[in-house]
Amino acid sequence: MLLKRVFLSGIILVAAGGAAALAYAWRGALPPIAPPAVTSFQPDEVRRGADLALIGDCRTCHTTAGGRTFAGGLAMPTPFGTIYSTNITPDPETGIGRWSLVAFTRAMREGVDREGRHLYPAFPYDHFSLTTDADLKALYAFLMTRDPVVAEAPANDLPFPINIRLVLAGWKLLFFRPETYVPDPSRDAPWNRGRYLVEGLAHCGACHTPRNLMGAEVRSRAFAGGEAEGWAAFPLGPHSPSRIPWAEAALGDYLRQGWQADHGVALGPMRPVVENLAEAPAEDVAAMARYLASLGAPAATFPPLPAAAPDMPGVPPQSAGWQAAIAAPGTGQPEGLRLFAAACASCHEAGRPLPLGGTDLALSTSLSADTPQNLLNVVLQGVPASDGQAAPIMPGFGSAMNDAALTALVAYLRQTVAGKPGWSDLPAAITAARDAAIPSPHAGAAR
Ligand code: HEC
Ligand code: HEC
Ligand code: HEC
Repeated sequence: MLLKRVFLSGIILVAAGGAAALAYAWRGALPPIAPPAVTSFQPDEVRRGADLALIGDCRTCHTTAGGRTFAGGLAMPTPFGTIYSTNITPDPETGIGRWSLVAFTRAMREGVDREGRHLYPAFPYDHFSLTTDADLKALYAFLMTRDPVVAEAPANDLPFPINIRLVLAGWKLLFFRPETYVPDPSRDAPWNRGRYLVEGLAHCGACHTPRNLMGAEVRSRAFAGGEAEGWAAFPLGPHSPSRIPWAEAALGDYLRQGWQADHGVALGPMRPVVENLAEAPAEDVAAMARYLASLGAPAATFPPLPAAAPDMPGVPPQSAGWQAAIAAPGTGQPEGLRLFAAACASCHEAGRPLPLGGTDLALSTSLSADTPQNLLNVVLQGVPASDGQAAPIMPGFGSAMNDAALTALVAYLRQTVAGKPGWSDLPAAITAARDAAIPSPHAGAAR
């Protein structure tokens, strides 16, 4: 979605005759260096760089499924074409082996490569620009001490004129200013650390902040909710639709372990984020939670939940017998409830603890959010297995449920289980979710 809008902006800017932008657009090449020896970097600094790279999700975007870590080539599909991440291993020919620290810093802060070309903001330099010199130096030390991999990123498949990188100069002129982090002296050190990371390297807003028509984040509406790879990146802070407000401790646990008892499991594009944070320093993740919690919680609370499912005579509630009794034809129960009892209750009402059991769906933000997008994605695609990890698994019902069944099930979940008015755009959302039910490019990304 980001790129789609960036592309539009490109077309608009070219149409407007971006001659003025051209003057600003020209950036010189920085001289290549001989690849630095691994021993020229301090082990401490390399370790710090490794932690920062986890927080910045570098490997998530710069590694293909089954490919070598940091070797790039991950396809980022868009309706207009495909952009590929680049090789950021220190290979001198196909990676960044000949990049000086100055060139690396310019790329991270200004979105310009060593040769002076503008980079697409699919690379979130609009957040990375906040990173301090010391942290960029550590990241550089970490990357330059990885195994060099010979891997040429495939050429982007973008139509004219958005394949012209100069067009990006206009976008930057309008929407991008490199910033430095200014600590807030009225707050404590963890809060400042958390804010620095959330706004900077962790680029949480890249998904959770809405974007304008030209693909730039609307910073005045930070964390009001955005989109990523066909998933809703739910609003956070005061805009959060979560049934139980997110507390600092819950945020810390969710970000660190990938699930939280009152909120469920991180899914879709959020999953690699928490997998990375699981290995990052615990105090940094706790700092991020502190900052996020300080954004505030929604003023309004939800009404109490309606009783979700009726009792059936002669069988204990939520038992297998109850599920069978509800699901049986001719009981007069609503279609959506019968489908839930038949297809979902055995996992979601079994009381098996998270993360391996299914959560109480009344607590899931995917039922209380403004859009049915994530609920549909989960029901259609399921929760895929993770390589070599004990992780939650849910089957996808994409081929088992037709649109009428899906509509009845979703209406039941939304109105009866979550107690909210039905989504008005459901038929269109079902079509879109079925069309998009292709595996995420990040799913199963190699380490
Ligand atoms: C959301 C995906 C994403 C994340 C996260 C990401 N990158 Fe990238 N990065 C890209 C893409 C896409 C490009 C290529 C942009 C282009 O071709 O214009 C890129 C380009 C780069 C480049 C320029 C390389 C070149 O050869 O031009 C560097 C350096 C880089 N990334 C470093 C990093 C580091 C370090 C991190 C982690 C702190 C990181 N990236 C995280 C998507 C990402
Ligand atoms: C690549 C896009 C992306 C990035 C980057 C990202 N998120 Fe998310 N996030 C999502 C999506 C999509 C969801 C919804 C999926 C889900 O609930 O599992 C989500 C869900 C969440 C939730 C759960 C909200 C709720 O009410 O259920 C929290 C909290 C969250 N993200 C915090 C963060 C923080 C903090 C960061 C930065 C460290 C971050 N996210 C970075 C895409 C992203
Ligand atoms: C085989 C067990 C199983 C079945 C059957 C199953 N699920 Fe799940 N589901 C899971 C597990 C495990 C998770 C991940 C943990 C979690 O978040 O609940 C999950 C996650 C979800 C989530 C995300 C919850 C969140 O916010 O974290 C939704 C929504 C969901 N399932 C809906 C359904 C619906 C609707 C059905 C029936 C059509 C269904 N599930 C059937 C096991 C199952």
